[in-house]
Formats: sequence, structure tokens, C-alpha cells
Amino acid sequence: MSKKRILTGYRPTGRLTLGHWFGNLLNMRELQEEYEAYYFVADWHALTSDWQDTHAIRQYTEEMVLDWVAAGIDPSKATIYRQSDVPEVAELTLYLTMVTPMGWLERVPSYKEQREQISDKDLGNVGFFMYPLLQAADIAIVKGDIVPVGEDQLPHLELTREVVRRFNGQYGDLLVEPAAKIAKQGARVPGTDGRKMSKSYGNAIYLSETEEETTKKVMGFMTDPARKLKTDPGDPAICPLHQVHALVGDPADIAEWEKCCRTAECGCVAHKRAFAEDLNAYLADFRAKRAELAARPDYAWEVLSEGAARVRPAIDELMGAVRTSMHVDAAE
Ligand code: TRP
Repeated sequence: MSKKRILTGYRPTGRLTLGHWFGNLLNMRELQEEYEAYYFVADWHALTSDWQDTHAIRQYTEEMVLDWVAAGIDPSKATIYRQSDVPEVAELTLYLTMVTPMGWLERVPSYKEQREQISDKDLGNVGFFMYPLLQAADIAIVKGDIVPVGEDQLPHLELTREVVRRFNGQYGDLLVEPAAKIAKQGARVPGTDGRKMSKSYGNAIYLSETEEETTKKVMGFMTDPARKLKTDPGDPAICPLHQVHALVGDPADIAEWEKCCRTAECGCVAHKRAFAEDLNAYLADFRAKRAELAARPDYAWEVLSEGAARVRPAIDELMGAVRTSMHVDAAE
């Protein structure tokens, strides 16, 4: 039996963090072994929300590919491509708008939420409104069988399935209804201030930063807030430093640090130093590989153009059939 095709896209809106490493990258690395994996950079999705400031999209696209490959996503196993290198995604999105009632898009929960919560960007544009349809086209155009999603993305996938059904009902069974695979819950990685690690909180450790930068950030990492003095016993269960250290450290060492924290036999500063050392050791191979890839001019763009070439034949075939069934194909 041939492998099922799994598909996921990421918006190039910044460099990847330690949160992405434990939340997504390890999972993507595993999935490429079991499935035919399609991983793409959703640069048009970045436009929908960041259309007023697009200058860094190419740079973040390149960095994303370097981060992915250095993390072990293997371009000879997974097909890595850029959304905008498949312009037919826009064409298929247009066709999908024809079969989609406006109410379906208005009811997508993430749409309402983000319109309400995000105030520093103008999200009143049609492009942002159509975000889930662009995503549906991403999935349908490569006949993705499975999409690994977090809870927040489930409504998008449900919409994709409904739109695909409506399209197929109208024009014939051309598109595949994808299934959601609830992503294995990646570890929640706390940032330097104890909140969830995120670029927008300014508390992130980036995979591609230097050892010195990492060490500096780690020395500012939040610890048990109730432990004011070194002589106060601490509680590892509420200490972000302990939580993040546990992800990369040797379990025996971690147990040691927990014990001496509870008894106030060791201090937070020494613990931060030890964590910085462990984290830098943990990321050393990634960083060496990333530096090596970054030194090869155009490496990321070569990966992307190879990926785009790999998906091309199936796109041509599907879009040919779609145009024919809608009577918008080229004249004889
Ligand atoms: N909506 C996804 C996100 O915000 C990105 C995305 C775009 C995507 N197209 C996709 C994910 C297709 C899975 C499949 O992270």
C-alpha cells in the first residue's frame, strides 16, 4: 500500500524557537518516516495578516527552510515547497470561493477571535477573511489525506471538508476530503518570563541564535517567584527554569537539581548556568548543521524549487481536471 500523504504549512512570520522545536519540529521529523510528508511555507498566509509589512517574508521563508532541514527534516524524504511557487493555489482558492457561502467563513471561530483580539494589525481585509479557503486550497491541491492539527486549527479543517464536499457535489469527485490528525500534544515550553514561549511575548529562545545569546537569555530566566533568597527552599513544580531544563537535561541531573532546590542546597543562578550549558550542548548539532547550510548560498531556495518541481505534475493534472469540469479550460 502506498503511504498516505500528510500535509502541513507554516507561516513565515519569524525565526523558529525552542517552543517550535518541542511543539512541532520533533513531530514533523517523526511523521516524515511514516507518511509521504508535504511541508510547505505558507507565505501567502503570512500576507493575509501582515499585508502592511511584508518586507521580511522572503527572509523568514529562507530561515524556516534552514531551521527545518537543520532540525532533521530531510528534503529527500519530505517535500518542502513554498506556497507561492504553486500559483494554482490562488486559482483553486478562487474556484472554492464560488461554492462557499459567506456565512461559513463568518462563522469560523478563529476569524472572530482574531478580529476581536488583534488590534495592532488591520484584519478587515478580504484576504484575511478568506484565510481558511486559502488553506483549503493548499490541502486540496496536493490531495492531502491527513493534516496534523492542534485544537485551534480543527474548524479550518472542518471547513475544508465541507467545501470539498460541496465542490465535488457540484463538479464531480475531483478533490479529496482530508482527515485531521490531532497532533500529539507537544510539550508546552515556557519562555524566559514563565509564559508560553512566543515571539510576540519577547520571551523566546531562538534555535538559530548563538550560544552567547542563549546563555544571556537563560541567565534572565524566571524561577520560582516565591524563592526570594538562596536560603529559601524552592518548588520545582512551579519553576519555569525546571520545566524547560527537564526537556533537554539528563534525567539524573534533573532529579538532582530538583532535590537541591527543595532543600535550598543549590541556588537558581548555578542552576541557570547548568541549564545554559545543557541547552547549548543539546542544540550544538542543530546549530552546526544550520551554520553549514546557511553558508551555502541559495541552499534554501534550491530546496524550495526542487520541492515545487516535485509537486508540479500532480498539480497540473488536478487543475486540468478541475478546469475541464468547470468549463473554464483552454479552447481546443
Ligand atoms: N493555518 C496554519 C497556521 O496558522 C497554516 C496553514 C496554512 C496550514 N495552510 C495550511 C496548515 C494547510 C495545515 C495545512 O499555522
